[in-house]
Amino acid sequence: MTTTLTPSDAFVFLGATGDLAYKKIFPALQSMIRRGHLEVPIIGVARAGYSLERLRERARASMEEYGGGVDPAAFAKFLTLLRYVDGDYNNRATFEELRRQLGEAAHPIHYLAIPPSMFPVVIEHLGGSGCALDARVIVEKPFGRDLASAQSLSDTIHTVFNEPDVFRIDHYLGKEAVQNLMVFRFANTFLEPIWNRNYVESVQITMAESFGVQGRGRFYEEAGAIRDVVQNHLMQVVGFLAMEPPATTYREAIRDELVKVFRQVRLLDPAGLVRGQFQGYRDEAGVAPDSKVETFAALRLDIDSWRWEGVPFFIRAGKCLPVTATEVMVKLKRPPLTKLAPGIGNFFRFRLNPELSIALGAAIKKPGDVMVGEPTELSLVHHPTGNELSPYERLLGDAMAGDGTLFARQDAVEAAWAIVDPVLGAETPLHTYQPGTWGPVEAKSLTTEMGGWAQPEGSS
Ligand code: BG6
Repeated sequence: MTTTLTPSDAFVFLGATGDLAYKKIFPALQSMIRRGHLEVPIIGVARAGYSLERLRERARASMEEYGGGVDPAAFAKFLTLLRYVDGDYNNRATFEELRRQLGEAAHPIHYLAIPPSMFPVVIEHLGGSGCALDARVIVEKPFGRDLASAQSLSDTIHTVFNEPDVFRIDHYLGKEAVQNLMVFRFANTFLEPIWNRNYVESVQITMAESFGVQGRGRFYEEAGAIRDVVQNHLMQVVGFLAMEPPATTYREAIRDELVKVFRQVRLLDPAGLVRGQFQGYRDEAGVAPDSKVETFAALRLDIDSWRWEGVPFFIRAGKCLPVTATEVMVKLKRPPLTKLAPGIGNFFRFRLNPELSIALGAAIKKPGDVMVGEPTELSLVHHPTGNELSPYERLLGDAMAGDGTLFARQDAVEAAWAIVDPVLGAETPLHTYQPGTWGPVEAKSLTTEMGGWAQPEGSS
């Protein structure tokens, strides 16, 4: 095991010619170099028949398309650091060549940006070739497709890497707006007394995307909304909203609290789940003509804890909805003198995507001769400076420094799978919805008692 503070001295990414490398990894690397955060050898591995020159061209195209353009100085430096190993993942010689390319590096980090089906053989060869010695590994989601497969994936990884050296990327944890949920809660005295079942009536999380599966039909057929975003991204959001304050500055404190929340969430009941599929999904490339995979899911979580007993947490996530926005709505209970502010309640609205904003819904006196309130919002918008770390840049930097705080720990991954497991294998109804709508009408009844779904700001 490497000590947590030993920085990685080489960055290896397997799947160097793939989609993830193109869209996320190359841009993050350029940005890290630009900031002076990355000076170690970067080694791409793929079984694509590429040359180093061709990989360089692909990197340039990636930075142009997804990295905000090529930064001449950073890119020049990137070229001096980049190496390439071409070979079959089933072949031990590929990993022997990787070990040779690693040269003096004694603490490499290996990013598995490859299909999960390749993990076992790659892990075995990393171990067998000496590449895993004093090394770290970054694993991309999905971490399994249910509880049992997540446990087996973990067993495979642990044959070669120790848990502190395993970094499971959930890019939601790398988002400023998600991290802010925790900071906003615990850094503000006014929130703590009300952040519980005595004052909070309900919590809603909506992750709406106005686009479909964008050519990822084959991947999506294996996933569906629950596996793709609920079990991971949205559970992290629930975790930050519901966790207890981290008790100490002990390095694992935040992850300890997250796993505690996940273990307090009641396992899902198939009867309380609404699944939908947008009209036209079955015509996408790679999608079965009779696919039963959901592109929309709405559900209610109950957290059996002292703080949250009786407070429903509603989650709704879908493709082809009217807008692209992720928002959290925390509704507070009404004060007794309801005549003063009829139909107006207090709330906190956290917008996590596409931009970060926080609004506090309040009632103020309506000007005039009647003693009655009207709704208003105090809002706070974060204006991007253009210099923010992208989630991938933040997370790759943390992993290389050995800081696992913002990565999914195995116990949390398993606890989150345990919550959704009962609905994954169940035959639940699938309702068709029209693209551009808020999913199947059946989802409405879930929140009726709590005043219905809160639509993200600016949408109707
Ligand atoms: C990915 C999912 O993990 O997250 C996608 O596979 C989804 O289906 C994406 O669109 C959303 O991420 P973001 O950062 O755009 O909200």
